[in-house]
Amino acid sequence: MHLIKIAILILPLISGCNNGLFSLGSKDEKKVPLPNISYDTHIKTIVNNRCIACHAEGKVGPFPLENYQQVAEFALPALSAIERGSMPPWSAKKDCREYKGDYSLSEEEKVLFRQWVDGGKKENGGDGTYQPKEIVDISLSRVDLTLSNSQPYQPKPAPDDTRCFVIDWPYEDAKYVTGMDVVPSNLALAHHASVYLGKPANAQFYKDKDLQNDGAGTGYPCSATMGVGKSSAIWIGGWLPGLTGFDFFFDSGILVEPKSTVILQVHYHKALLPDGKAFPPEDLAKDLTEIKIKIDDTVKRPGTLVTFTNPDWMVELEMKIPAGESSVTHNFSEKMTLIPNLIGQQFPLQGEIFDIMSINAHGHSLMKATKMSIIRADGSEECLVDAPNFDPDWQLNYIFEEPARVYPGDKIFLECQWNNSASAQAFVNGKRMDPIDVNWGDGAREEMCFGLMFVGEATTQ
Ligand code: HEC
Repeated sequence: MHLIKIAILILPLISGCNNGLFSLGSKDEKKVPLPNISYDTHIKTIVNNRCIACHAEGKVGPFPLENYQQVAEFALPALSAIERGSMPPWSAKKDCREYKGDYSLSEEEKVLFRQWVDGGKKENGGDGTYQPKEIVDISLSRVDLTLSNSQPYQPKPAPDDTRCFVIDWPYEDAKYVTGMDVVPSNLALAHHASVYLGKPANAQFYKDKDLQNDGAGTGYPCSATMGVGKSSAIWIGGWLPGLTGFDFFFDSGILVEPKSTVILQVHYHKALLPDGKAFPPEDLAKDLTEIKIKIDDTVKRPGTLVTFTNPDWMVELEMKIPAGESSVTHNFSEKMTLIPNLIGQQFPLQGEIFDIMSINAHGHSLMKATKMSIIRADGSEECLVDAPNFDPDWQLNYIFEEPARVYPGDKIFLECQWNNSASAQAFVNGKRMDPIDVNWGDGAREEMCFGLMFVGEATTQ
């Protein structure tokens, strides 16, 4: 269930619609005949393009939308979800930037759906055939390697259990990771998963850590904020609620040296079970998270993941979100390349000019909006992502249509907004929890605010 849903008001009059089709919403609304829209000529194409990847038999959506009967039956909840902006789950606004694979509905399509419902949900006989914008498939296009822990892991009964599993990288020569899909097998318990790459020189360090805790193959306790034990480990991918695998695009990839170690970190959280019930330990299902990887021998543009956040939020706990407040905002700006070192991570790329190719904005259950941009040396701003209706259940990766170039004098701006009022709290055992003072932390009742950016060396300057 969504914790936060903010209504989006649809503009009754859509600009640029001068063909007479979109004449609803004016004062004499009742006198204007409804345009002739049917399932066959308009709605089927919209639903096939924007909904059935999930709303089909056997897919994640709770009901199918594969034929006229099904769409007509769910037409009212579908319209409501479309107008509220909760479905399709895509919170990055188009007027900030264009993204690959953007399956959100245009304003025009939202109006078409409303007019179809208001006009009696006709099956056929509409005017013309609707031509939608083509959507690029961003899902992982190839699986060359699947990695997982050697055996399933039984999460500990405490509310939060973050575990690091140690996995050998199998290749004997240098390779590039060019796409990834991380798939937890126990979605009811998983809160996040991160894939790190340990340097070849530290392989024994990770093996020893694994052995020191309950024997090889069952991993060791670790933490999202503190990483996996060595600051030289780099982050190469992961899973968050709603996120599915994708290619990195732009002929870019992350270099993996032979004899590297893959450290898979999975955070299990009990309070996220349906109804927030804490399961007794014997009922906790085991998890075996799989990492599916696309591999290439060469790329044009070596890349890396950069966690962009304010180190003072993380280290000094300066991200206060007081109990009861319905709108708390924190923001920050700094040079991109400075941040990894300040938060104990690496920035392994060469050069001074970089391209940001995608962003995954991360917060926990109270986060309701986030925004990132580049602030140029001359004060001008380039929007990277603007999600005024951020949905913590759908933490998607937004791949830019065109990379955003970062020059030496530029700074990155990051802003997050939270709702910590009584009505925004999650349910535990059927009861809404009371708001508490919140700050940065790994736990599901603590918060975070960062943008995970995929950054590459600029190919031409
Ligand atoms: C990426 C997968 C995905 C896509 C694309 C998607 N849905 Fe959903 N939808 C889900 C899942 C999962 C749920 C149940 C959990 C939830 O509510 O988030 C859901 C729930 C819903 C609900 C009930 C909850 C609510 O928010 O009202 C409606 C209605 C709905 N979808 C309609 C649609 C329509 C209409 C489209 C296309 C215009 C669409 N969905 C596209 C995955 C998807």
